[in-house]
Amino acid sequence: MAKLRVGLLFGGRSVEHDVSIASATSILQALDRDRYEISLLAIDRQGHWRLGGAAASLLETSVRGLEVTLPAVPGAATIVPVAKEGPRPSEVARDGLVLDVIIPIVHGRGGEDGALQGLLELANIAYVGSGVLSSAIQMDKDIAKRLLAAAGLPVLPWLVLQSHDLASEKIELAVESVSKELGFPVFVKPANSGSSVGINKAVNSDELAAALREAARYDDKILVERGLDAREVEIAVLGNESPEASLPGEIQPKHDFYDYEAKYHDQATELLIPAPLSDEESQQLRELAVQAFRALEAEGLARVDFLLDRQTGKPYINELNSLPGFTDCSMYPRLWEISGLSYGALLDRLIQLALERHQRRGKLETQYRRSAT
Ligand SMILES: Nc1ncnc2c1ncn2[C@@H]1O[C@H](COP(=O)(O)OP(=O)(O)O)[C@@H](O)[C@H]1O
Ligand SMILES: [Mg+2]
Repeated sequence: MAKLRVGLLFGGRSVEHDVSIASATSILQALDRDRYEISLLAIDRQGHWRLGGAAASLLETSVRGLEVTLPAVPGAATIVPVAKEGPRPSEVARDGLVLDVIIPIVHGRGGEDGALQGLLELANIAYVGSGVLSSAIQMDKDIAKRLLAAAGLPVLPWLVLQSHDLASEKIELAVESVSKELGFPVFVKPANSGSSVGINKAVNSDELAAALREAARYDDKILVERGLDAREVEIAVLGNESPEASLPGEIQPKHDFYDYEAKYHDQATELLIPAPLSDEESQQLRELAVQAFRALEAEGLARVDFLLDRQTGKPYINELNSLPGFTDCSMYPRLWEISGLSYGALLDRLIQLALERHQRRGKLETQYRRSAT
């Protein structure tokens, strides 16, 4: 059987560029060479797409790879070189490179917010993970919470402010009304954040004002959420129409909360896999995770993150991540590992889910035809 042509797309312009390279490195090592012919596609820090030759490293590709583009039209070649002349890797035919499926492991804005997924839809290529709408929803913490709440799922109370509400003459008013409604502590977040960038905890009005200003540097829309003394538990969900939930894992950051430093620089953060929970607690969280996945119309994969009230044990859904960290020591693949699915088998399954969805959607009518019945 011919090998499936897989494009491993990584990098990107966000602060999570290096995280993406780490995830893609693990994926590249684990993909089965007997089944897949792999092309490396890097989005460099300036947003240019670069293609690596078969023997290139990821880092090299992201800096020196051949500059290519993915035309936003369905057609013969998926990837075409920008320059008409010049040297090109051997797998790139004169007219470009054809791929069967893309694994987009690009975090953050422009990567997991639906923008990239839109491009892949226009090019009519199969890709791993949620589609345009669900990716965008999962990225926007406010819209995601509204839909989770509408589905009857537990989320912490929150308020939304726009950055124009925070001009110097208005900020006092904003602080007063927020603290009256939510009390302290609160967490202040840019609506479209990731990796805890721009997120701060505030325990009084001064800190709240500072946290609002800081969050406004990253987004026009800002969430303020009731702060909880909480355990952090995560569940990996996998599937399309019939999603399945892994066992839960727990994060124990040594910082005050799971901030940027704790995520990427602090070796002391502990992952408890599986999380020390009773069977009933674990089962309840797994059911909630699948419900959340469905409520946000996720496909392929998502990591569902919970906050568990330390006093009462009550779970709240904090957020869904449509493209969670994917190194072989990241939470998402490790949760599947202990649930009986190895890293390599997980990748096979994700590729299969991408192809199934693409086939299913390809069968939909694109123009009106009177039904035969
Ligand atoms: N309402 C909250 N109560 C307590 N801790 C919170 C709350 N919201 C966020 N946190 C802490 O901040 C971290 C980052 O917030 P999160 O909403 O997950 O943003 P990100 O998308 O950047 O991961 C969480 O992992 C948790 O440690
Ligand atoms: Mg988070």
